[in-house]
Amino acid sequence: MWTPPERIQYELPEGDWPTNEQAARSQLFSPVRIGPIELAERTWIPAMVPWRATEEGEVTEDVLQWYERFAEGQPGAIVVEATGIRDIPSGPLLRIGHDRFLPGLEAIVERVRKASHGRTRLLIQIIDFLSIRRRPQAEKFFRRFLQVTPAHREALNLQTSSEEEVREALLPLAEEELEQILTPREFEDLRFGARERVTDLQEPHIRDLPNTLPDLFAQAAQRAQKAGFDGVELHYAHAYTMASFLSATNTRDDGYGGHREARIRLPLEVYEAVRSQVGTDYTVGCRYLSEECIEGGSTLEDSVFFGIELARSGMDFLSLSRGGKFDDALQPKVGSSIYPYTGPSGYECMPTIRSDNRGPFGRNIECASQIREAVRNAGYKTPIIVAGGICSFSQAESILCEEKADIIGAARQSLADPDWFMKMRLGRGGQVNRCVYRNYCEGLDQKHKQVTCQIWDRQQLDTPGIRLSDNKKRRLIAPPWDPQK
Ligand SMILES: Cc1cc2nc3c(=O)[nH]c(=O)nc-3n(C[C@H](O)[C@H](O)[C@H](O)COP(=O)(O)O)c2cc1C
Repeated sequence: MWTPPERIQYELPEGDWPTNEQAARSQLFSPVRIGPIELAERTWIPAMVPWRATEEGEVTEDVLQWYERFAEGQPGAIVVEATGIRDIPSGPLLRIGHDRFLPGLEAIVERVRKASHGRTRLLIQIIDFLSIRRRPQAEKFFRRFLQVTPAHREALNLQTSSEEEVREALLPLAEEELEQILTPREFEDLRFGARERVTDLQEPHIRDLPNTLPDLFAQAAQRAQKAGFDGVELHYAHAYTMASFLSATNTRDDGYGGHREARIRLPLEVYEAVRSQVGTDYTVGCRYLSEECIEGGSTLEDSVFFGIELARSGMDFLSLSRGGKFDDALQPKVGSSIYPYTGPSGYECMPTIRSDNRGPFGRNIECASQIREAVRNAGYKTPIIVAGGICSFSQAESILCEEKADIIGAARQSLADPDWFMKMRLGRGGQVNRCVYRNYCEGLDQKHKQVTCQIWDRQQLDTPGIRLSDNKKRRLIAPPWDPQK
């Protein structure tokens, strides 16, 4: 992963854990409404892909145990990982693109209800993503993938040669020469793997996204409702299709790109389709970026505008993330796919303990605060969720007391200790196992390996009945916490 060049090593902030009386009087442990539902407390576990589904996108016992473990800590809400809305193969990522996925999804709802004693609200993040290929071997790229064009022939002075001869002539060339001969897109496909973009209007299925996506999202949301989830989170963040529509890099010329009003058109149309499918008595919100953190990307000014428009449309919550884009990601190894959390924007999304002057804790708070203020000034009460390096009581409580956000999201700290919110609530904060923010979890995610946490995954491996990773070296969920001890 990319690290800021300053490489300043930070200490974890003091926990400043509350007594149970302080917790009872706190904002953090006070209820909040999101649309038609109420959260018992303002604590939120944002979506985290654990790589536990089957290759067919089905829920497994490991998926159930993952959510059950978070639910034992009884947070206000858990958001189930990014779940694909299409019925297409996408590796071990959960899917919701067909009714056959319903029984598995219902089982998640059931487990979470039971494990949290009905206290935790459960949402599911629904996502669309475009196709992305692994970085090819140069040989494969030139012999199989590249479409030979007159421009290649001209550059090589091989106008009358066979296509095969052109391919063979390209193969031994150095990168500097190839950069002159190939188009920027071909050169990128070679170096990073081919990746579809929302701006590929020459592709009929990409041109047609504004026609196809609203219904796909609406059907997926209806399945979520049928499965018993308390709400859906539309994934408008990071490197995926809907975020690409919002992005300042979206230059589509069909009324869905260019200026901000056009870039937010499809996200609003998707929301309207979802809303008309699930009705007004169902929680629907979205996750989007407070800043893209890439050159030429959307800025806070854009996100303030989007926030107001999304609130105006009737969304029940806005969850803010930042960065996490393909545009500045590192070059993957041959045979691997580009991963959107390896560049500076990826760092902004999941900052680590080695940081710059701003540090890793709460980098998204200022932006969230400004978006919230603008939404409030426009007359909307839409709750704002903020995440990013939040791991102490005083940090969380001051965000709420200073009205910078309404709900506190914590992903990696909740993975490190799924009981941490409960420990704080019970005045047992001293027992919190703290995230070290070294992104071991994110490293596993990058390799599509079962995600675990370095602070507990080698503990008590001989406990009877616990489930281990495929290589049998790591436990898959955090050891239980006994509140009596
Ligand atoms: C292993 C892992 C998987 C993640 N998967 C998702 C995801 O499916 N959807 C999403 O919006 N964010 C995802 N994220 C980002 C987190 O939700 C969160 O925004 C980020 O980790 C910053 O919050 P934190 O500092 O509290 O961890 C993931 C993060 C991790 C570590």
